[in-house]
Amino acid sequence: MCGIVGYIGNKPVYDILINGLKKLEYRGYDSSGIMIYNQKPLVKKAKGKVSDLEKLFVNSADKQGYLGIGHTRWATHGPPNQINSHPHTSNSGEITLVHNGIIENYDSIKKILTQKGYVFHSDTDSEVLVNLIEDIKKTKNVKLGKAVYFALKQVIGAYAIVVFDSKNPKEIVGARLGSPLAIGLGDSEYYFGSDATPFLEFTKRCIYLNDNEMFIVNMKKGLTLREIKRDSIIDPYIEELKQNIEEVEKGGYDHFMLKEIFEQPHSIIDTFRGRLLSYNQPISISSLKKHFEEFKNAKRIIFISCGTSWHSSLLAEYYFEELLRIPVEVEYASEFRYRNPVINKGDIVIPISQSGETADTLAAIKMAKEKGAFLYGICNVVGSSIARETHTGVYTHAGSEIGVASTKAFSCQISLLLLMALNLGQKLGTLDQKRYYRIIQELEKLPETIKTVLKSDPIVESISEKYLDAENFLYLGRGYNFPIALEGALKLKEISYIHAEGYPAAEMKHGPIALIDENMPVVVIATRKGNYHKVVSNIMEIKARGGQIIAVVSKGDVEIEKLADHIIEIPDCNELIAPILANIPLQLLSYHIANKKGCNVDQPRNLAKSVTVE
Ligand code: AGP
Repeated sequence: MCGIVGYIGNKPVYDILINGLKKLEYRGYDSSGIMIYNQKPLVKKAKGKVSDLEKLFVNSADKQGYLGIGHTRWATHGPPNQINSHPHTSNSGEITLVHNGIIENYDSIKKILTQKGYVFHSDTDSEVLVNLIEDIKKTKNVKLGKAVYFALKQVIGAYAIVVFDSKNPKEIVGARLGSPLAIGLGDSEYYFGSDATPFLEFTKRCIYLNDNEMFIVNMKKGLTLREIKRDSIIDPYIEELKQNIEEVEKGGYDHFMLKEIFEQPHSIIDTFRGRLLSYNQPISISSLKKHFEEFKNAKRIIFISCGTSWHSSLLAEYYFEELLRIPVEVEYASEFRYRNPVINKGDIVIPISQSGETADTLAAIKMAKEKGAFLYGICNVVGSSIARETHTGVYTHAGSEIGVASTKAFSCQISLLLLMALNLGQKLGTLDQKRYYRIIQELEKLPETIKTVLKSDPIVESISEKYLDAENFLYLGRGYNFPIALEGALKLKEISYIHAEGYPAAEMKHGPIALIDENMPVVVIATRKGNYHKVVSNIMEIKARGGQIIAVVSKGDVEIEKLADHIIEIPDCNELIAPILANIPLQLLSYHIANKKGCNVDQPRNLAKSVTVE
């Protein structure tokens, strides 16, 4: 986690750093800081948001300069406070560094440096790294680039770093291993960022650093890219970015989360673009076409992921087993990577990730690759580490998702997974043609159907008002709607801090039913197809114990209307499409509860958008 920015060029740097940090706040927001160089480095840091940092710049002279680096933090080593915030400065005051990641062997390096007389002020591993660089620079009598190179050879862990040496103020050095880092190329100017959003408004030309790569940007010599392990110069691959700045702004909504919920019809259009052309044309997903043999011969498919993406994986299990008849397993990446899983030739491993940077998912991919699995990645962020680490895959194209709570990315993941399952099922002959066409026809209309669902927003908002004081929530669903119950509960707890649990509805009587009384709101996803009557029975059981029922039902349902305290209708649809629709009112419910409780919806406490630490 943590966000890094930097700039060297001919523009005043202050606004570039501050605005860049605000765009990266989704990556961490417990403290922030910047260094601006103007004859000498000026470092200012603040606990809290970037807006708290801005308050420290009352004097316009402090803002002057054309070179700087900045950081917004998600604490790993030491509490969020001013001292632990970045940038960190070496003992001589000459070298400044911003770091995203974890240096695992920092303690042993710290001991050695302490014996040499170095003094440490913070609890961070990053302060150790900046002093290690300084020590190497001095003892080996080398320039910053070489010192960074030798230091990185010593450290174990993950990092994206940007480093500056005031002895050579025309140069910035950076490197990555495990944490993302992008370079924006302007006209005799260079931007640095944990992603491209800080410089999107200035340039679309971008280099994404790969693991084990470092750069030296020198205003006289230009950019040099090096591979650290081989210590060789490499040619940069410059990408032309397609993202635009509007995507990363709120566009009139109070929060990114709300904007992203309402963007879903459009996001689904982007996900389906070029893939679902019309119901009488075959689905076209080029990576599936190219690797059809692998899927045809697959003995097993294993989905690996975390959080919301894990819920997508769980729904994928239902879709893929139903439509492909291939055994599927769903694993938390963090568990999968640390046990010794059996992976056989012919197994396909499918990692799913919005950010494409989740550390556990990335490590699980590397492990599965070593064991010989075929890796098919599903990512949202183009060019992300996971997208590059997998053999092939597909992008969800949900667009930038800034709100920490995943909304549109989830909807695009599950819509794409259904499309993939339909495509493969039809080609494998495991799916009845009539059923295929029925689902495809409904899928084609999905963006419009989602617009209809979004019209329920005022109803959901009025329901939310009644539950602001609830301390617990239960979410229940069966079959395809079970992963949605889990996702609904996660969404509520992460942004409103209300404890919520998701369960398969039938599991309720094996324990959770003991919790039900008049103070327990229970959200039940009870769409008409599938196990409808069994869910109705579950609702009766809750009712009998005084629980308050909020039911998501298919339009025209009269049975549940009589039982539930509140109903939210979604259009009647195929049971495989129902979870995609049913999830949307649950996103809105969480949003309104959290917003009315005064919680920070886009940046909930203790969380970050991209979890690049394990
Ligand atoms: C979702 O609302 C969460 N903030 C979180 O669970 C997230 O889905 C998880 O960290 C995985 O992220 P990824 O999809 O970027 O890999």
